Amino acid sequence: MKLNIAILAGDGIGPEVTGEAVKVLKAIATAGGHDFTFTEALIGGVAITAEGTPLPQRTIDISLAADAVLLGAVGDNKFNSLTPDKRPEAGLLAIRQHLGGFANLRPCLAFSALSNNSVLKPEVIEGVDILFVRELLGGLYFGQPRSWDKETGLAINTMVYTKPEVERVAHIGFQLAQKRKKKLTQVDKANVLECSQLWRATVEELKPQYPDVTVEHQLVDSMAILLMNQPKTYDVVLTENLFGDILSDESGVITGSLGMLPSATIGGKVNLYEPVHGSAPDIAGQGKANPLGAILTAAMVLRHSAGLEQEALAIEKAVNAVLAQGHRTADIAKGGATANTSTTQMGQYVLDELAKQLAT
Ligand code: NAD
Ligand code: IPM
Ligand code: MN
Repeated sequence: MKLNIAILAGDGIGPEVTGEAVKVLKAIATAGGHDFTFTEALIGGVAITAEGTPLPQRTIDISLAADAVLLGAVGDNKFNSLTPDKRPEAGLLAIRQHLGGFANLRPCLAFSALSNNSVLKPEVIEGVDILFVRELLGGLYFGQPRSWDKETGLAINTMVYTKPEVERVAHIGFQLAQKRKKKLTQVDKANVLECSQLWRATVEELKPQYPDVTVEHQLVDSMAILLMNQPKTYDVVLTENLFGDILSDESGVITGSLGMLPSATIGGKVNLYEPVHGSAPDIAGQGKANPLGAILTAAMVLRHSAGLEQEALAIEKAVNAVLAQGHRTADIAKGGATANTSTTQMGQYVLDELAKQLAT
Protein backbone atom coordinates (compact mmCIF):
# COMPACT_ATOMS: atom_id res chain seq x y z
CA MET A 1 0.00 0.00 0.00
CA LYS A 2 0.96 3.67 -0.43
CA LEU A 3 1.55 5.84 2.61
CA ASN A 4 2.89 9.37 2.62
CA ILE A 5 4.31 10.16 6.07
CA ALA A 6 5.37 13.63 7.16
CA ILE A 7 8.37 13.47 9.50
CA LEU A 8 8.61 16.33 11.98
CA ALA A 9 11.61 15.25 14.06
CA GLY A 10 11.91 18.51 16.03
CA ASP A 11 14.35 19.16 18.85
CA GLY A 12 16.66 17.41 21.31
CA ILE A 13 16.27 13.64 21.17
CA GLY A 14 13.40 14.02 18.64
CA PRO A 15 15.63 13.40 15.58
CA GLU A 16 17.51 10.57 17.34
CA VAL A 17 14.44 8.52 18.22
CA THR A 18 12.49 9.40 15.05
CA GLY A 19 15.42 8.17 12.95
CA GLU A 20 15.06 4.71 14.48
CA ALA A 21 11.27 4.73 14.03
CA VAL A 22 11.67 5.61 10.34
CA LYS A 23 14.14 2.74 9.85
CA VAL A 24 11.53 0.37 11.27
CA LEU A 25 8.83 1.74 8.94
CA LYS A 26 11.20 1.37 5.97
CA ALA A 27 11.86 -2.25 6.95
CA ILE A 28 8.10 -2.91 7.01
CA ALA A 29 7.72 -1.27 3.58
CA THR A 30 10.54 -3.30 2.04
CA ALA A 31 9.33 -6.60 3.50
CA GLY A 32 5.72 -6.08 2.42
CA GLY A 33 6.33 -4.34 -0.90
CA HIS A 34 4.65 -1.18 0.39
CA ASP A 35 5.31 2.27 -0.99
CA PHE A 36 6.02 4.50 2.03
CA THR A 37 7.34 7.99 1.35
CA PHE A 38 8.84 10.22 4.03
CA THR A 39 8.81 14.01 3.78
CA GLU A 40 10.76 15.90 6.42
CA ALA A 41 9.75 19.32 7.73
CA LEU A 42 10.80 21.64 10.55
CA ILE A 43 8.95 22.22 13.81
CA GLY A 44 9.81 23.64 17.23
CA GLY A 45 13.14 25.17 18.18
CA VAL A 46 14.90 24.09 14.97
CA ALA A 47 12.19 25.88 12.98
CA ILE A 48 12.55 29.04 15.10
CA THR A 49 16.30 29.01 14.46
CA ALA A 50 15.96 28.39 10.72
CA GLU A 51 12.83 30.40 9.90
CA GLY A 52 11.89 32.50 12.92
CA THR A 53 8.67 30.60 13.65
CA PRO A 54 8.00 27.30 15.48
CA LEU A 55 5.59 26.17 12.73
CA PRO A 56 6.50 27.29 9.20
CA GLN A 57 3.75 27.28 6.54
CA ARG A 58 5.65 24.58 4.58
CA THR A 59 5.38 22.27 7.59
CA ILE A 60 1.63 22.85 7.80
CA ASP A 61 1.23 22.19 4.06
CA ILE A 62 3.34 19.01 4.11
CA SER A 63 1.49 17.72 7.18
CA LEU A 64 -1.98 18.38 5.77
CA ALA A 65 -1.01 16.68 2.49
CA ALA A 66 0.31 13.58 4.31
CA ASP A 67 -1.53 10.38 5.26
CA ALA A 68 0.08 10.50 8.71
CA VAL A 69 2.37 12.82 10.64
CA LEU A 70 5.14 11.35 12.80
CA LEU A 71 6.58 13.84 15.27
CA GLY A 72 9.64 13.42 17.50
CA ALA A 73 9.62 16.11 20.19
CA VAL A 74 9.89 19.87 20.53
CA GLY A 75 11.47 22.03 23.21
CA ASP A 76 14.84 23.61 23.81
CA ASN A 77 16.02 25.30 26.99
CA LYS A 78 17.45 28.19 25.03
CA PHE A 79 13.90 29.41 24.33
CA ASN A 80 12.72 29.17 27.96
CA SER A 81 12.51 32.93 28.43
CA LEU A 82 10.05 33.37 25.53
CA THR A 83 6.30 33.76 26.09
CA PRO A 84 4.25 30.61 25.37
CA ASP A 85 3.13 31.85 21.94
CA LYS A 86 6.74 32.14 20.70
CA ARG A 87 8.19 28.95 22.19
CA PRO A 88 8.88 25.66 20.36
CA GLU A 89 5.89 24.13 22.15
CA ALA A 90 3.59 26.64 20.39
CA GLY A 91 4.49 24.90 17.13
CA LEU A 92 3.31 21.57 18.52
CA LEU A 93 0.03 23.00 19.81
CA ALA A 94 -0.56 24.74 16.47
CA ILE A 95 0.08 21.63 14.34
CA ARG A 96 -2.34 19.72 16.59
CA GLN A 97 -4.97 22.37 15.83
CA HIS A 98 -4.28 22.31 12.08
CA LEU A 99 -4.52 18.52 11.92
CA GLY A 100 -7.67 18.56 14.05
CA GLY A 101 -7.24 15.29 15.95
CA PHE A 102 -8.94 15.61 19.31
CA ALA A 103 -8.52 12.10 20.78
CA ASN A 104 -4.97 11.41 21.91
CA LEU A 105 -4.56 7.68 22.58
CA ARG A 106 -1.75 6.92 25.02
CA PRO A 107 -1.44 3.20 25.76
CA CYS A 108 0.46 2.10 28.85
CA LEU A 109 1.46 -1.56 28.73
CA ALA A 110 3.60 -3.29 31.32
CA PHE A 111 6.41 -5.14 29.53
CA SER A 112 7.08 -8.38 31.38
CA ALA A 113 10.83 -8.15 30.72
CA LEU A 114 10.82 -4.78 32.50
CA SER A 115 8.79 -5.86 35.53
CA ASN A 116 11.82 -5.33 37.77
CA ASN A 117 12.56 -1.90 36.31
CA SER A 118 9.66 -0.06 37.81
CA VAL A 119 9.84 1.35 41.31
CA LEU A 120 6.46 -0.38 41.70
CA LYS A 121 6.41 -4.04 42.74
CA PRO A 122 6.23 -6.58 39.87
CA GLU A 123 2.94 -7.98 41.19
CA VAL A 124 1.40 -4.49 41.02
CA ILE A 125 2.34 -3.85 37.39
CA GLU A 126 2.38 -7.29 35.72
CA GLY A 127 -0.34 -7.38 33.07
CA VAL A 128 -1.19 -3.68 33.19
CA ASP A 129 -2.93 -2.57 29.98
CA ILE A 130 -4.32 0.95 30.21
CA LEU A 131 -5.41 3.17 27.34
CA PHE A 132 -5.51 6.87 28.18
CA VAL A 133 -7.86 8.82 25.94
CA ARG A 134 -6.74 12.41 26.40
CA GLU A 135 -8.77 15.27 24.90
CA LEU A 136 -6.17 17.24 22.95
CA LEU A 137 -7.70 20.42 21.55
CA GLY A 138 -9.46 22.04 24.49
CA GLY A 139 -9.19 23.01 28.13
CA LEU A 140 -6.55 25.28 29.63
CA TYR A 141 -4.22 24.84 26.63
CA PHE A 142 -6.43 26.83 24.28
CA GLY A 143 -9.06 28.62 26.41
CA GLN A 144 -9.49 32.38 26.11
CA PRO A 145 -8.82 34.77 27.71
CA ARG A 146 -5.18 34.09 28.45
CA SER A 147 -2.54 36.61 29.41
CA TRP A 148 0.33 37.53 31.68
CA ASP A 149 0.68 41.16 32.66
CA LYS A 150 4.12 41.58 34.17
CA GLU A 151 3.30 45.09 35.41
CA THR A 152 0.31 44.10 37.52
CA GLY A 153 1.44 40.53 38.15
CA LEU A 154 -1.83 39.12 36.85
CA ALA A 155 -1.77 35.95 34.74
CA ILE A 156 -4.88 34.30 33.32
CA ASN A 157 -5.57 30.94 31.73
CA THR A 158 -9.08 29.73 31.11
CA MET A 159 -10.44 26.21 31.08
CA VAL A 160 -13.17 25.98 28.46
CA TYR A 161 -15.10 22.95 27.20
CA THR A 162 -18.27 22.75 25.13
CA LYS A 163 -20.60 19.78 25.30
CA PRO A 164 -19.88 18.71 21.68
CA GLU A 165 -16.12 18.73 22.43
CA VAL A 166 -16.68 16.40 25.36
CA GLU A 167 -19.16 14.21 23.48
CA ARG A 168 -16.89 13.51 20.50
CA VAL A 169 -13.94 12.36 22.60
CA ALA A 170 -16.19 10.49 25.05
CA HIS A 171 -17.69 8.50 22.14
CA ILE A 172 -14.16 7.44 21.17
CA GLY A 173 -13.46 6.43 24.77
CA PHE A 174 -16.65 4.34 24.94
CA GLN A 175 -16.02 2.71 21.54
CA LEU A 176 -12.46 1.78 22.44
CA ALA A 177 -13.63 0.40 25.80
CA GLN A 178 -16.13 -1.79 23.92
CA LYS A 179 -13.24 -3.34 21.99
CA ARG A 180 -11.21 -3.86 25.18
CA LYS A 181 -12.21 -4.79 28.74
CA LYS A 182 -15.36 -2.66 28.63
CA LYS A 183 -14.48 -0.34 31.46
CA LEU A 184 -14.30 3.45 31.20
CA THR A 185 -12.83 5.56 34.00
CA GLN A 186 -13.60 9.22 33.50
CA VAL A 187 -11.21 11.46 35.41
CA ASP A 188 -12.06 14.99 36.50
CA LYS A 189 -12.15 17.51 39.34
CA ALA A 190 -15.93 17.71 39.53
CA ASN A 191 -15.83 18.67 43.21
CA VAL A 192 -14.37 22.06 42.20
CA LEU A 193 -14.60 22.75 38.45
CA GLU A 194 -17.71 23.42 36.33
CA CYS A 195 -15.84 22.07 33.28
CA SER A 196 -15.43 18.78 35.11
CA GLN A 197 -19.12 18.73 36.00
CA LEU A 198 -19.88 19.11 32.30
CA TRP A 199 -17.57 16.16 31.53
CA ARG A 200 -19.22 14.00 34.19
CA ALA A 201 -22.77 14.88 33.12
CA THR A 202 -21.97 14.33 29.43
CA VAL A 203 -20.42 10.92 30.01
CA GLU A 204 -23.46 9.94 32.13
CA GLU A 205 -25.75 11.08 29.31
CA LEU A 206 -23.91 8.95 26.73
CA LYS A 207 -23.69 5.89 28.98
CA PRO A 208 -27.04 4.34 27.90
CA GLN A 209 -25.72 4.16 24.30
CA TYR A 210 -22.99 1.80 25.54
CA PRO A 211 -24.78 -0.56 27.94
CA ASP A 212 -21.94 -3.08 27.85
CA VAL A 213 -19.42 -0.56 29.20
CA THR A 214 -18.99 -0.06 32.96
CA VAL A 215 -18.43 3.60 33.76
CA GLU A 216 -16.74 5.03 36.81
CA HIS A 217 -15.87 8.63 37.65
CA GLN A 218 -12.71 9.44 39.56
CA LEU A 219 -11.33 12.70 40.90
CA VAL A 220 -7.94 13.42 39.38
CA ASP A 221 -6.04 13.90 42.63
CA SER A 222 -7.01 10.51 43.99
CA MET A 223 -6.57 9.00 40.52
CA ALA A 224 -2.89 9.96 40.71
CA ILE A 225 -2.37 7.61 43.65
CA LEU A 226 -4.80 4.89 42.50
CA LEU A 227 -2.88 4.66 39.23
CA MET A 228 0.22 3.68 41.19
CA ASN A 229 -1.55 1.51 43.80
CA GLN A 230 -3.84 -0.49 41.53
CA PRO A 231 -3.00 0.13 37.85
CA LYS A 232 -4.35 -3.29 36.83
CA THR A 233 -7.90 -2.20 37.62
CA TYR A 234 -7.97 0.34 34.76
CA ASP A 235 -8.90 -0.17 31.13
CA VAL A 236 -9.79 3.04 29.25
CA VAL A 237 -9.06 6.25 31.18
CA LEU A 238 -10.83 9.30 29.69
CA THR A 239 -9.58 12.77 30.60
CA GLU A 240 -9.53 16.41 29.64
CA ASN A 241 -6.33 17.81 28.15
CA LEU A 242 -4.11 18.76 31.11
CA PHE A 243 -5.15 15.91 33.42
CA GLY A 244 -4.33 13.44 30.62
CA ASP A 245 -0.96 15.08 30.04
CA ILE A 246 -0.01 14.61 33.69
CA LEU A 247 -1.46 11.13 34.26
CA SER A 248 0.05 9.70 31.08
CA ASP A 249 3.54 10.84 32.13
CA GLU A 250 2.87 9.30 35.54
CA SER A 251 2.07 6.02 33.82
CA GLY A 252 5.71 5.94 32.69
CA VAL A 253 6.43 4.69 36.21
CA ILE A 254 4.57 1.49 35.27
CA THR A 255 6.63 0.86 32.11
CA GLY A 256 9.82 1.88 33.91
CA SER A 257 10.48 4.89 31.66
CA LEU A 258 8.78 7.71 29.83
CA GLY A 259 10.87 6.61 26.86
CA MET A 260 8.65 3.54 26.40
CA LEU A 261 5.32 5.33 25.82
CA PRO A 262 3.79 5.88 22.35
CA SER A 263 0.77 7.92 21.26
CA ALA A 264 -1.61 8.47 18.36
CA THR A 265 -4.03 11.34 17.89
CA ILE A 266 -7.12 10.52 15.87
CA GLY A 267 -10.40 12.10 14.84
CA GLY A 268 -9.10 14.97 12.67
CA LYS A 269 -8.01 15.49 9.07
CA VAL A 270 -4.67 13.69 9.45
CA ASN A 271 -3.61 11.52 12.38
CA LEU A 272 -0.64 12.73 14.42
CA TYR A 273 1.78 10.26 16.01
CA GLU A 274 4.23 11.24 18.73
CA PRO A 275 5.93 9.51 21.62
CA VAL A 276 4.69 10.81 24.98
CA HIS A 277 8.12 12.04 26.09
CA GLY A 278 9.70 15.39 25.28
CA SER A 279 13.00 16.56 23.82
CA ALA A 280 14.97 15.44 26.92
CA PRO A 281 17.63 18.18 26.77
CA ASP A 282 19.54 16.45 29.60
CA ILE A 283 20.49 13.53 27.34
CA ALA A 284 20.10 14.99 23.82
CA GLY A 285 22.89 14.38 21.33
CA GLN A 286 24.54 11.68 23.42
CA GLY A 287 23.05 8.56 21.83
CA LYS A 288 21.40 7.68 25.14
CA ALA A 289 17.75 8.18 24.23
CA ASN A 290 15.44 5.19 24.32
CA PRO A 291 13.91 4.89 20.82
CA LEU A 292 11.30 2.28 21.83
CA GLY A 293 8.52 4.83 22.52
CA ALA A 294 9.07 6.26 19.04
CA ILE A 295 9.26 2.77 17.49
CA LEU A 296 6.01 1.76 19.23
CA THR A 297 4.55 5.01 17.89
CA ALA A 298 5.52 3.82 14.38
CA ALA A 299 3.51 0.66 15.11
CA MET A 300 0.54 2.90 15.90
CA VAL A 301 0.97 4.63 12.50
CA LEU A 302 0.59 1.24 10.81
CA ARG A 303 -2.39 0.29 13.00
CA HIS A 304 -4.37 3.53 12.78
CA SER A 305 -3.37 5.04 9.41
CA ALA A 306 -2.56 2.02 7.25
CA GLY A 307 -4.70 -0.84 8.54
CA LEU A 308 -1.51 -2.92 8.82
CA GLU A 309 -2.40 -4.60 12.12
CA GLN A 310 -0.15 -7.64 11.60
CA GLU A 311 2.83 -5.40 10.88
CA ALA A 312 2.07 -3.28 13.96
CA LEU A 313 1.95 -6.45 16.04
CA ALA A 314 5.24 -7.60 14.52
CA ILE A 315 6.92 -4.37 15.68
CA GLU A 316 5.45 -4.77 19.18
CA LYS A 317 6.62 -8.39 19.32
CA ALA A 318 10.10 -7.34 18.17
CA VAL A 319 10.26 -4.75 20.97
CA ASN A 320 9.21 -7.37 23.51
CA ALA A 321 11.81 -9.81 22.20
CA VAL A 322 14.61 -7.24 22.35
CA LEU A 323 13.69 -6.42 25.95
CA ALA A 324 13.55 -10.12 26.81
CA GLN A 325 17.08 -10.47 25.42
CA GLY A 326 18.17 -7.92 28.05
CA HIS A 327 19.01 -4.98 25.80
CA ARG A 328 18.64 -1.77 27.81
CA THR A 329 19.11 1.91 27.10
CA ALA A 330 20.28 3.84 30.18
CA ASP A 331 16.74 4.88 31.26
CA ILE A 332 15.66 1.24 31.62
CA ALA A 333 19.01 -0.18 32.74
CA LYS A 334 17.88 -0.51 36.33
CA GLY A 335 16.90 -3.52 38.39
CA GLY A 336 19.97 -5.63 37.68
CA ALA A 337 20.29 -5.17 33.93
CA THR A 338 23.91 -4.35 33.17
CA ALA A 339 23.73 -3.65 29.45
CA ASN A 340 23.80 -0.02 28.37
CA THR A 341 22.61 0.07 24.78
CA SER A 342 22.78 3.20 22.59
CA THR A 343 19.82 4.63 20.67
CA THR A 344 21.01 3.27 17.33
CA GLN A 345 22.03 -0.11 18.76
CA MET A 346 18.57 -0.49 20.27
CA GLY A 347 17.02 0.42 16.92
CA GLN A 348 19.22 -2.18 15.21
CA TYR A 349 18.23 -4.90 17.69
CA VAL A 350 14.57 -4.16 16.92
CA LEU A 351 15.27 -4.32 13.17
CA ASP A 352 17.03 -7.68 13.59
CA GLU A 353 14.10 -9.09 15.56
CA LEU A 354 11.59 -7.60 13.15
CA ALA A 355 13.32 -9.36 10.26
CA LYS A 356 12.77 -12.64 12.13
CA GLN A 357 9.12 -11.80 12.86
CA LEU A 358 8.45 -10.90 9.24
CA ALA A 359 10.12 -14.09 7.98
CA THR A 360 7.71 -16.33 9.96
P1 NAD B 1 11.07 15.03 28.87
O1 NAD B 1 10.04 14.03 28.54
O2 NAD B 1 11.79 15.63 27.72
O3 NAD B 1 12.16 14.39 29.86
C1 NAD B 1 11.84 13.97 31.19
C2 NAD B 1 12.91 12.98 31.68
O4 NAD B 1 12.71 11.74 31.01
C3 NAD B 1 14.34 13.42 31.38
O5 NAD B 1 15.17 13.03 32.43
C4 NAD B 1 14.67 12.68 30.12
O6 NAD B 1 16.05 12.41 29.96
C5 NAD B 1 13.87 11.39 30.28
N1 NAD B 1 13.46 10.87 28.97
C6 NAD B 1 12.45 11.33 28.21
N2 NAD B 1 12.37 10.63 27.07
C7 NAD B 1 13.36 9.72 27.11
C8 NAD B 1 13.81 8.71 26.20
N3 NAD B 1 13.21 8.49 25.02
N4 NAD B 1 14.87 7.96 26.57
C9 NAD B 1 15.48 8.15 27.76
N5 NAD B 1 15.10 9.08 28.65
C10 NAD B 1 14.06 9.87 28.32
O7 NAD B 1 10.36 16.17 29.73
P2 NAD B 1 10.94 17.58 30.27
O8 NAD B 1 12.37 17.45 30.62
O9 NAD B 1 9.97 18.03 31.27
O10 NAD B 1 10.81 18.55 29.00
C11 NAD B 1 11.88 18.84 28.11
C12 NAD B 1 11.34 19.62 26.93
O11 NAD B 1 10.50 18.78 26.14
C13 NAD B 1 10.49 20.83 27.31
O12 NAD B 1 10.82 21.87 26.42
C14 NAD B 1 9.06 20.36 27.08
O13 NAD B 1 8.19 21.39 26.77
C15 NAD B 1 9.26 19.44 25.90
N6 NAD B 1 8.22 18.40 25.73
C16 NAD B 1 7.85 18.14 24.45
C17 NAD B 1 6.96 17.12 24.20
C18 NAD B 1 6.58 16.84 22.78
O14 NAD B 1 7.21 17.38 21.89
N7 NAD B 1 5.61 16.00 22.51
C19 NAD B 1 6.48 16.33 25.24
C20 NAD B 1 6.89 16.63 26.55
C21 NAD B 1 7.79 17.66 26.78
C1 IPM C 1 2.95 16.26 25.55
C2 IPM C 1 3.68 17.54 25.92
C3 IPM C 1 2.96 18.75 25.32
C4 IPM C 1 1.58 18.81 25.97
C5 IPM C 1 3.70 20.08 25.48
C6 IPM C 1 5.12 20.02 25.00
C7 IPM C 1 2.97 21.17 24.76
O1 IPM C 1 3.84 17.65 27.29
O2 IPM C 1 2.76 16.00 24.36
O3 IPM C 1 2.59 15.50 26.46
O4 IPM C 1 1.47 19.34 27.09
O5 IPM C 1 0.63 18.35 25.33
MN1 MN D 1 3.32 15.82 28.34
